[in-house]
Amino acid sequence: MTELLSIILAAGEGTRMKSALPKVLHPVGGLPVVSHVLRTVLASGSQVAVVVGPNHDAVEAAVHSWAPGAPIARQHERLGTGHAVLQAKASYDAASGHVIVLYADTPLVTAQTLAEIVARLDGGADMVVLGFRPKDPTGYGRLLTKDGRVYAIREHKDASEEERKIGLCNSGILGFRGDTLRSVIERIGNSNAKGEYYLTDAVELAAGDGKRIDYIEVNANELIGVDDRSKLAQAEATFQELRRDDFMKAGVTLKDPKSVWFSYDTQIARDVTIEPNVVFGPGVTIEEGAVIHAFSHIEGAHIGRNASIGPFARLRPAANIGADAKVGNFVEIKKADIGVGAKVSHLSYVGDATIGANVNIGAGVITVNYDGFNKYQTVVGDGAFIGSNSSLVAPVNVGAGGFVVTGSVITEDVEADAMAFARSRQTNKPGRAKEFFEQAKAKKLASKQAKKV
Ligand code: UD1
Repeated sequence: MTELLSIILAAGEGTRMKSALPKVLHPVGGLPVVSHVLRTVLASGSQVAVVVGPNHDAVEAAVHSWAPGAPIARQHERLGTGHAVLQAKASYDAASGHVIVLYADTPLVTAQTLAEIVARLDGGADMVVLGFRPKDPTGYGRLLTKDGRVYAIREHKDASEEERKIGLCNSGILGFRGDTLRSVIERIGNSNAKGEYYLTDAVELAAGDGKRIDYIEVNANELIGVDDRSKLAQAEATFQELRRDDFMKAGVTLKDPKSVWFSYDTQIARDVTIEPNVVFGPGVTIEEGAVIHAFSHIEGAHIGRNASIGPFARLRPAANIGADAKVGNFVEIKKADIGVGAKVSHLSYVGDATIGANVNIGAGVITVNYDGFNKYQTVVGDGAFIGSNSSLVAPVNVGAGGFVVTGSVITEDVEADAMAFARSRQTNKPGRAKEFFEQAKAKKLASKQAKKV
C-alpha cells in the first residue's frame, strides 16, 4: 500500500464562532472537531502533520492527545491555505507516498472517502479534488472541469458570473501524489482578490504541467465545515443521525431515535433498547439486552447484560452496573460497582462504593462519601439489604447477608449476617395525639376570637 501523509490545516481564527475557544476545539458528539479529523486519518493508516495558528497551544495539546508526537507546524501569519501547507514542508518533503490536505473544521469526512481518494491516486491521478454541491455555493471555490477532469478551481471572489453558476464546489480536501505537491506548492502566488496564497491554485499549475486531476463528488453533509454556531449545530445533527442509523442497523432499538444523543465513542451491543430522551456522554459501553428507560443521562459507565436503567437515572463516570442489575428512577451512581442482580430502585446516591451481587438498596439510601476534602469507600457484601432512607457513612462495610434497618445512620462496620439498628427507639404515648389536637384547636379558636374584638 502506498504511504499516506495527511496535512490538517487548523490555523484559521474562527472569528465567526465568536468564542474564546479555538473553533476546531468545539465538540461534535463530545469530541473536538479536530480530533474527529485526526481519528479518521489515523484509522486510514495515514501519517499526520498539523498546521496551527500562533496562539493555538490548546489545539496543539488536543492534537497530541490523539496523535502523540505528530509534527505540528505554526503558521504565524494567515496568508492563505497554500501558505499554510508550505509550513508543513518538512513533513511533505519527507513523504514517500501520497499527501491529502484536509481542514480541521470538517469533522464528518469518512475513512471511506479518503480511501477513494487514495484509490484514484494509486490508479494514476496526480491530484484528486473532493467536490460537493452545497445548497448555496456562494463563497466556495468552483470546480472548472473538462472531459471529467478538473483544470482549475476558481475562488468565488475571483470567479466570473458564468463561473459562479457552477454548482460543483471545492470541499477543501485535496489529494496529491507527493511529487505533484512538491512540484507546484512553491509556485503558488497571491495575485488574486484576497491577496492570499490559494492552495486551490495548485490545480491550475498541475494542469499546466500536463498532470491528471480527478474529482470525486460526495454528499454535502459529509463536508460540513464548522465555522459558525449554526454549522456546528448542523454538524452535530448530522453526526447524531449517522450514529442513530449505525446503532439501529447493528440491532439496537431506539424508540424515538431523534431524542437520543450519542457520544463519539458510545458502544452498544445488539438487543439493547433505548427509550426516548436519553443522553450519552463519553465513555459508555452497554451489553446485550439492557434497557435504558426514558430521560436517563449516562457518561463514563459500563452497563451489563440485561440491566435496567432509569427512567430518570444518572450514571456518572466509573459507574459499573452488573448484569441483571436495576438502577431505578432518580438514582445517581458514581465510581461504583453495582453487583450482578443488585437493585438500587429509587432516589439514591451511590458513590465510591462496591455493592455486591443481589444486594437490595432501599429507597433514599445515600452513601456519605465526602467530608468536604476527601472521598471514602463504602462496601456492601453480597445479598445484603439496606433499608430505606439509611445513610452509609464511609468508610464503612456492610458484610454479606447483613441487614441495615430503615432510617439508620451507619457509621460502624456491620458484620456478615448481622442486623444493624442505628436510630433511636420508638415510644408510643396512648391518647397523647388526641390531647394535642384538642389543645391546638382551642388555641386557634382563641386567637380568632381575639382578632374579632
Ligand atoms: C477554502 C477553499 C475553497 C473551498 C472552501 C471550502 C482555498 C483558497 N479556498 O476557502 O475553494 O470551497 O475552502 O470550505 O483554499 N487555513 C489556515 N491558514 C490560512 C488560511 C486557512 O490554516 O492561512 C485553514 C483554516 O483553518 C480552515 C481552512 O484552511 O480550516 C480553510 O480556510 P478558509 O479561509 O475557511 O477557506 P475558504 O475561504 O473558505
